[in-house]
Amino acid sequence: MCGIFGCLSNNDNIALLMLKGLKRLEYRGYDSCGMAFLDNHVINVKKDVGEIDRVNDKVNFLELKGHLGIAHTRWSTTGKVTKQNSHPHQSCDGNISIVHNGIIENYEEIKQVLTVIGHKFVSNTDSEVIAHYFEEKLKNKSINEACIDFIKEIKGTFAILLLKQDEDKIYALKRDSPLAVGICKDKNILASDIHAFSNLTNKAIFFDNDEFGIITKDSYELFNKDGKAIEKLIKSFEWKEEETGKKKYKHFMMKEIEEEPKVVDRLLRSLDYEQKNDFGKLIELIKKSKKIIFAACGTSYHASLLGAYYLHKIGVEVQTLIASEFKHYANVDKDTLVIAISQSGETMDVIDALNYAKEKNAKIVSLVNVPYSTIQRMSELSLNILAGQEISVASTKAFVNQTVLLLRIAQEFGYGVNLKNLSAKLKNLFQQKEKIRKIAKKISQSNDAYIIGRGLTYPVAREIALKIKEISYIHAEGMMGGELKHGTLALIDDGTPVISLISNSDEDIISNTREVEARGADITIITNNPTFKEQENVIYVNTGNDGKFGLLAATAGQLLAYHIADVLGRPIDKPKNLSKSISVR
Ligand code: AGP
Ligand code: GLU
Repeated sequence: MCGIFGCLSNNDNIALLMLKGLKRLEYRGYDSCGMAFLDNHVINVKKDVGEIDRVNDKVNFLELKGHLGIAHTRWSTTGKVTKQNSHPHQSCDGNISIVHNGIIENYEEIKQVLTVIGHKFVSNTDSEVIAHYFEEKLKNKSINEACIDFIKEIKGTFAILLLKQDEDKIYALKRDSPLAVGICKDKNILASDIHAFSNLTNKAIFFDNDEFGIITKDSYELFNKDGKAIEKLIKSFEWKEEETGKKKYKHFMMKEIEEEPKVVDRLLRSLDYEQKNDFGKLIELIKKSKKIIFAACGTSYHASLLGAYYLHKIGVEVQTLIASEFKHYANVDKDTLVIAISQSGETMDVIDALNYAKEKNAKIVSLVNVPYSTIQRMSELSLNILAGQEISVASTKAFVNQTVLLLRIAQEFGYGVNLKNLSAKLKNLFQQKEKIRKIAKKISQSNDAYIIGRGLTYPVAREIALKIKEISYIHAEGMMGGELKHGTLALIDDGTPVISLISNSDEDIISNTREVEARGADITIITNNPTFKEQENVIYVNTGNDGKFGLLAATAGQLLAYHIADVLGRPIDKPKNLSKSISVR
């Protein structure tokens, strides 16, 4: 889940560009970072533990000279977070430097072989073997031959940038982890995603699996696993980028929540115009398919679950599966339509599920936020949710637009909902910030919280719990109100926070709320029922429609989670141990 970035330019001073590019990838990992520059046939490396700005304060990347460099921002998979384990990694002779995103599964074997013949390792990562592997191979093989061997002999996943002391080139290899080349007038850029260079160019080529490439400042050559040169189409992409800075906001998360009304309108408009054709095709595919399965993870899974509830209400049978369990559970064949839902379009568990479904000849479509992402490129048909770039690790506006798209699909099959006033209703919700902050302060004092819902609000309860967990580090459980009495009720004590999602006058969830209240729970209610409206512990959502209530209740939960985390002083946009794009298994 690391971010990798490389640049070869006409200009001799690329340090600032490298730093800015790497920052744009920081959402992919932020436990340590580093850069290697080639300057007059010498490779200079700077790296350390911490987020990019902190490391830069310490080592000053801007001192690095040269027109060619590689950089890395890490989310460790193998080896602790230490300076030695951070990338770039060097060969013994220092002539080769590499950055790597992915996992080398057979690294211990390779390390052992290389150690026996004299290689000295300074880190405990899997990635360091790459530098030594090439050092060894290049003793009697060309770099192309070494790349062919690498692809054959290495097990695991990789996007690698490699530079050699004696060449003005970057070598790049890819399997499963994403890698693109951004083509600019006076330079070429390599990066984990197009966002890294979307401020510099809208032209890119994408590596496919088991390909390698040789990139200079004005050329690129790509090869398949047998070393045969391959032609690549240059793709022009359009990427709706919100203003990149935080503007007046303390955190990207709040900025992104407040962008929800705008992105909802953008998506709805596009489904009526730019994406109308594709939307129509998707509806046809759903109508024709014997079986429909959503595959997604985390927040996107919660959106898919909500989507499944919408569709079931109007008699459309769908199943939704957490992508990492897909192959253990799904029955897929040529009559199955698999709909992948992913913000990043790079989540490895979803990619695995799609590969499995493809083997069984299922049809693959996707709803993604990042255009040209791997999942979009794997799909026969893909709709963009148009939430714009989401920087905060906690997904907010993407969840809203995934849900809006699913509601639009349900609408086509007869689900009654007016989406035109949704953005106004979201804005209304933002008016209650003060009240929400007060409630958040109370909840922030506890170690645990429970969120209960029924029907359409059950997926939302789970989503709110995930938000609370990931950014405030408070243990939170989102569950079906009906399940409380089957065990969890034993955990309710005086003052235990329970957030109850009450849709209209649903008597069952009201009873569940009373049950926990009777056992001392400290209740917060998110509801569209006006009879509760004036209570201090109530976040009121003004809509009569169940479907829209679910969606708006999720945003109320996002605001609540944000304020809980803010009261606790958590690093909201970059929670510990997490990353925005989960490209490992
Ligand atoms: C969201 O807040 C989480 N950080 C996470 O659960 C995320 O939704 C999940 O990893 C799936 O990502 P995707 O939508 O990019 O596939
Ligand atoms: N496996 C490498 C490491 O631990 C890269 C991690 C990644 O891409 O997530 O450093």
